[in-house]
Amino acid sequence: MTADLSPIDKAKFVAAKRAVDYVEDGMRVGLGTGSTAAWMVRCLGEMVREDGIRVTGVATSSRTADLARQVGVPISTLDEVKWLDLTIDGADEYDPRLNLIKGGGGALLQEKIVATASDQMIVIADAGKQVDTLGAFPLPVEVIPFGWQTSKALIEEMLANLEVTGRSVSLRLDNGAPYRTDENNFILDLHLRQIADPHQVSMVLNQVPGVVENGLFLDICDIVVIGGGDGSVEVRDINNGTVEHEQIDIVDTDNLFVDVQD
Ligand code: A5P
Repeated sequence: MTADLSPIDKAKFVAAKRAVDYVEDGMRVGLGTGSTAAWMVRCLGEMVREDGIRVTGVATSSRTADLARQVGVPISTLDEVKWLDLTIDGADEYDPRLNLIKGGGGALLQEKIVATASDQMIVIADAGKQVDTLGAFPLPVEVIPFGWQTSKALIEEMLANLEVTGRSVSLRLDNGAPYRTDENNFILDLHLRQIADPHQVSMVLNQVPGVVENGLFLDICDIVVIGGGDGSVEVRDINNGTVEHEQIDIVDTDNLFVDVQD
């Protein structure tokens, strides 16, 4: 079935397949959210079913938890596990320092908590997610529904004093109604185009009353695995400064889709 994948899905699949090489028997693994992370959960499920590897997964969303259960990855809670060996997740953008924008799929809050509670974070992505400067992808900010318009106005006021190229803020909608996160919060998408100082923007945003968390993941990611539609992968490790290129064999593994309904 993997032979029928589009180039973009192949890129996501090979990135995921390479990333699960980092998972060792007995590890506690944070499971990201999104289409790339879904491939990783399927690959991990295959390792559990076929190779008998024992892992404990902590999901970053109800969607990921459902998928993990379907493919046989044992799931626990962060409160039970407390600390993780590794988190593997997708990203909406990554820059040369492996700083990220995440939350396009709305799961940024749990994703940031889980990634921060991990010894190592690996991001899996295709090359299209790479940018020189973060900000082309709208920055998601999770806010509580109470007084959200006031929080939005305060954010707009703060943005006026920050070095960003765009300043419009929109409420994320889902079928005409406000999009709801797993925590039942809203998401504001900040169209900043270019963020000169992500650390400053992140700090300022999190001081606004009503803001729960923002989608800037700074100094959290250790490794990015970049997949290509031709089965190539590039592995960049920010800590030891290495860049490796490999080719992943795409074998026809129908087993990846066992019990998966989506
Ligand atoms: C989910 O909230 C996001 O942070 C995702 O990790 C991000 O949107 C990447 O998703 P895709 O792998 O589907 O592009």
